[in-house]
Amino acid sequence: MGAMAMAVPVVRRHECASVYLIHAAGTFENGLGVVGKPLAGNLTDVLPSFAAVGLDSSAEYDATVAEGGQTMGDLIANLSSTCPEQKFILSGYSKGAMVVHATDLSDELKSHVCGISVFGDPDDAKGLAAGRGLADVWPIVDPVIGVNVAPFCNDGDAICDGGLDIATHLAYATDGSVTQAAAVLAAACA
Ligand SMILES: *[C@@H]1O[C@H](CO)[C@@H](O)[C@H](O)[C@H]1NC(C)=O
Ligand SMILES: *[C@@H]1O[C@H](CO)[C@@H](O)[C@H](O)[C@H]1NC(C)=O
Repeated sequence: MGAMAMAVPVVRRHECASVYLIHAAGTFENGLGVVGKPLAGNLTDVLPSFAAVGLDSSAEYDATVAEGGQTMGDLIANLSSTCPEQKFILSGYSKGAMVVHATDLSDELKSHVCGISVFGDPDDAKGLAAGRGLADVWPIVDPVIGVNVAPFCNDGDAICDGGLDIATHLAYATDGSVTQAAAVLAAACA
C-alpha cells in the first residue's frame, strides 16, 4: 500500500467566516459579555465557519445608543466589503438590544443579515424605552419572529416587561434562552 496523502491545513490570509456574530453587550459590559459569550459558544458548536465580536458598551454606546448603531452599521459595511459572502447575526443584551434596533442598514446590507437575537430588550412593547416605537423594527429583510428573529423577554423583567424583577433580567445567560436563540439562529444562518 502506498502512503496516503495527508491533508495539509492551509492558512489563508483573509479568512472570511461564513457567519459572523456581532453582539452588543449590556450596560457596563465589554466584549461579548455575559450573554454574548455563551451565545458565541453555542453557535461555534453548530456552525462550521463562525466568528464573533462584541461591541464594548463603554467605548461604543456609553453616550448614545445611536452611536452604537452607527458602529454596528459601519462594522457590517466594512466586513462586507472584505468578505462579500459573509452573513451576519446581530445580537444585543439589554441596552445592546437597543443598539441592534438603532442599526440603520441599506437594503443591500440588510440582505447580508441572516438572523437577529435580543435579550431583555428595553425597546420591547412593554419595555422601559417602549416610547421609541422600535419594538417591531429589525435590520433584516423580512423579519419573522421565531424564524430569523429571536427576541427573549422574561415575565416580570424590569427592563423589557414593565415588571419589578431584576433577577429575571439577569437570567438570560443561564435560563436556556441562549441555547434556544442559537438553535433559531443556526437554522436561519446555516
Ligand atoms: C450554551 O448556552 C448555555 C446557556 O443557555 C451555556 O450554559 C453553555 O455554556 C453554552 N455552551 C457553550 C459551548 O458555550
Ligand atoms: C470602517 O472602516 C473605516 C475605513 O477604513 C474606518 O475608519 C472605521 O473605523 C471602520 N469602522 C468600524 C466600526 O470598523
